[in-house]
Amino acid sequence: MNPKFQSLRGTNDILPDESRIWSYLEDKISDIFRRFGYQEIRTPIFERTELFVRSIGQATDIVNKEMYTFTDRKERSLTLRPEGTAPVVRAYLQNQLYTKDEVWKLYYKGPFFRYERPQAGRERQFHQFGAEVLGVMNPAVDAEIIYLGYLILKSIGLDNCELLLGSVGCPVCRPGYEKVIVAEMKEHYSELCDDCKRRYKDNPLRMLDCKNDTCKKYLKKVPAFTENLCEYCKNYLAKIEELLKLLEVPFEITPNLVRGLDYYTHTTFEFIYPHLGAQATLIGGGRYNHLIEELGGEDVPACGFAGGMERIIAALKNEKKQLPISDELDVFVVHIGTECFKSAFQLLQKIRSGGMSADMDYRESSLKSQFRRADRFKTRYVIIIGEDELKNRTAKLKNMKTGDEESIKSDNIVSELKKRLIK
Ligand code: HAM
Repeated sequence: MNPKFQSLRGTNDILPDESRIWSYLEDKISDIFRRFGYQEIRTPIFERTELFVRSIGQATDIVNKEMYTFTDRKERSLTLRPEGTAPVVRAYLQNQLYTKDEVWKLYYKGPFFRYERPQAGRERQFHQFGAEVLGVMNPAVDAEIIYLGYLILKSIGLDNCELLLGSVGCPVCRPGYEKVIVAEMKEHYSELCDDCKRRYKDNPLRMLDCKNDTCKKYLKKVPAFTENLCEYCKNYLAKIEELLKLLEVPFEITPNLVRGLDYYTHTTFEFIYPHLGAQATLIGGGRYNHLIEELGGEDVPACGFAGGMERIIAALKNEKKQLPISDELDVFVVHIGTECFKSAFQLLQKIRSGGMSADMDYRESSLKSQFRRADRFKTRYVIIIGEDELKNRTAKLKNMKTGDEESIKSDNIVSELKKRLIK
């Protein structure tokens, strides 16, 4: 065959062998969110561009170079969502969730879009799961959010990730720290990359996230933000540390953990799986106390994280972890000759209605080829209906593991299968 179309760079088909893994993980993660008292929220795939510009920040790579932005027929600028926090906050405000409860614990999962240079672990359409707590300023919330990420990774078998924890301060201490950065970088200004020259003026903190080697060399000399925090921020971080120790979650304080989005205040954190090279961050998040106000709400504090499905699956593959996924088929119905097709077809539907998974070959295939198909689906039991069985109103039942065969009355097939398959 000669396909006329290919999927776009940075987008992937999730084929059946993979989608089994995806469904297993998504169910497991949703279960954990629900166990922690989070409720699901689903927001649209596209939003007004301005929502992301205002929240993620004009000086970030995401807004500058990575958004899928287009104009619709009414000349509105729209963007495929590059992340989930801003849409959740928009939905919270638009639907006035704050009038129903002061505290909201929400989770989401789905596709997100960033125009990045595709490579392993960096896609243009990727999938995140995320959690957001709106309405509480308490280190226990930050610690619990971090613990939630820790537990998700641990429960799927990724128990050797590193947790990096930092703080990007608050409006009290950040301006002072930005002055420290500017003072340190002043003499190197001419050598900075174009992005950092812009950041130097607009948003000095963002320079700490620069990937350019020359900038990184000079930025190493900038004193740590964790050493320049105000008393409140220092204490806040210390309390989170205390709670994480209580929960026996290992972490490493990272002096300048500036993430790729501008809305963070106080806490920032990342879970790293080191063997994934440049794209090693599986989960990232933090506190964002001013975003709700920035988007038109009141002064409501919030905190959250998001994890990347593609990277988590890559890490699981690297660990060679076997997930407890069953891809077996309960029953395959084999028919011998066209005479028997109708009875086989009818029985197939009865088995399915009885709660078991079942299939058959709808083509005029040989007995051998039908059995080959049954094997391909890892079938546990095969039912065989031939002319003799049709005459005697019976069917042959074959256990594919042991090879044992027995004859069963047609009327009893479903109940006999249930006895063997449904515990
Ligand atoms: P983020 O760090 O931009 O944070 O993304 C979170 C995670 O999404 C990353 O750690 C990574 O696993 C995955 N990810 C991001 N971009 C890509 C990509 N191009 N290809 C594959 N995976 C990717 C946020 O999005 C924030 N909204 C997190 C948050 C929620 N902060 C507070 N609440």
